[in-house]
Amino acid sequence: MADEPLLSIRDLVTEFRTPDGVVRAVDHVSFDVGAGETVGVVGESGSGKSVTALSVLGLVQGGRVTQGEALFDGQNLLKLSGEKLRKLRGGDIGMIFQDPVTSLNPVWRIGRQITEAIRMHRDVSKEDARAEAVELLASVGVGEAENRVDQYPHEFSGGMRQRVMIAMAIANRPKLLIADEPTTALDVTVQAQVLEVLAKAKEKSNASTILITHDLGLLAEMADRVVVMYCGRVVETGTVHDIFREPRHPYTKGLLDSRPGLDHEAETLPAIPGQPPSLMNPPHGCKFHPRCFLSNGREPCRTIEPELFQIDAATARASRCHYHEELAIDPGVSSGRHADPRGSGVAGWRQLLDRIRPGRKKEKR
Ligand SMILES: Nc1ncnc2c1ncn2[C@@H]1O[C@H](COP(=O)(O)OP(=O)(O)O)[C@@H](O)[C@H]1O
Ligand SMILES: [Mg+2]
Repeated sequence: MADEPLLSIRDLVTEFRTPDGVVRAVDHVSFDVGAGETVGVVGESGSGKSVTALSVLGLVQGGRVTQGEALFDGQNLLKLSGEKLRKLRGGDIGMIFQDPVTSLNPVWRIGRQITEAIRMHRDVSKEDARAEAVELLASVGVGEAENRVDQYPHEFSGGMRQRVMIAMAIANRPKLLIADEPTTALDVTVQAQVLEVLAKAKEKSNASTILITHDLGLLAEMADRVVVMYCGRVVETGTVHDIFREPRHPYTKGLLDSRPGLDHEAETLPAIPGQPPSLMNPPHGCKFHPRCFLSNGREPCRTIEPELFQIDAATARASRCHYHEELAIDPGVSSGRHADPRGSGVAGWRQLLDRIRPGRKKEKR
């Protein structure tokens, strides 16, 4: 690896105790976020994406990080005091959550929310902070920012509130942005606008970004690398091009096949059969095998949980599937029992990616 990553999550385990037993929501998760890089984290609802982010931020409620580290700029976030973490959140680490209604204080004017955020982290006068707030609002596309800075959150639409959240997240020039389903609560046309704002904010701040989403289109547009989660586990990692062209985990392929990939509103195809299993009582062997088209009841799938097999160290390409080689476009040592399983779903994504992200980037990692 060329440079040290900005954030290195290693072996993270987060558990919740419930009346029915212990739920391991995050199960030995490891991934890196390089400087300036956007890492997309994708997976069905309940796969542990949000809990991973909350763990790193020290914001897990009702649960506990029981193992692992999150090295940020050389320090382990999981060992920092509450006070130091508070300093980082909204400072070097900007956060954008799904629902700005719960993240904004309803009784504070928008301007005050932003100026407090600025003044909590930097020694800036009230007047200067207010001027910055107006500038920030204008930069995220809030019209008449000089007037709107004095309004309350309820006077803003959902999309406008999310723009305010983005403005606050970048107010202190973060090194890392964590965006958890930043557009999920918005309707489709507003989503596109907010996305554009987010992309610009990211570009302007050059912050590394963790983008949590179940929206594959969003990943195709913004992510440099992708981490696929299933049942609290990382099941595949790779560059956005590798993941979308040649998924090497049946679950990733299932996700891609379930959306044709041509645009956000495209018709949804049959999803992966079945439901994600209970975290309390996950299946033996590979946690995905009961829903897997590739397993065919093969014994290792039922009995041995696959490790995260490294496919290419240079691009951090890895898959947690015993038979990932059978999914290779050119399956070197494949048994050849399966014809090319790539359906129209993956082909559609490949075309989309070629169109919107031409010139395959040379990723460092
Ligand atoms: N407060 C909680 N108490 C018990 N279990 C929880 C709690 N929060 C999350 N979980 C468990 O963690 C799993 C992962 O949640 P989450 O990270 O929010 O998923 P997602 O990938 O949709 O963001 C959930 O399926 C749930 O079982
Ligand atoms: Mg979530």
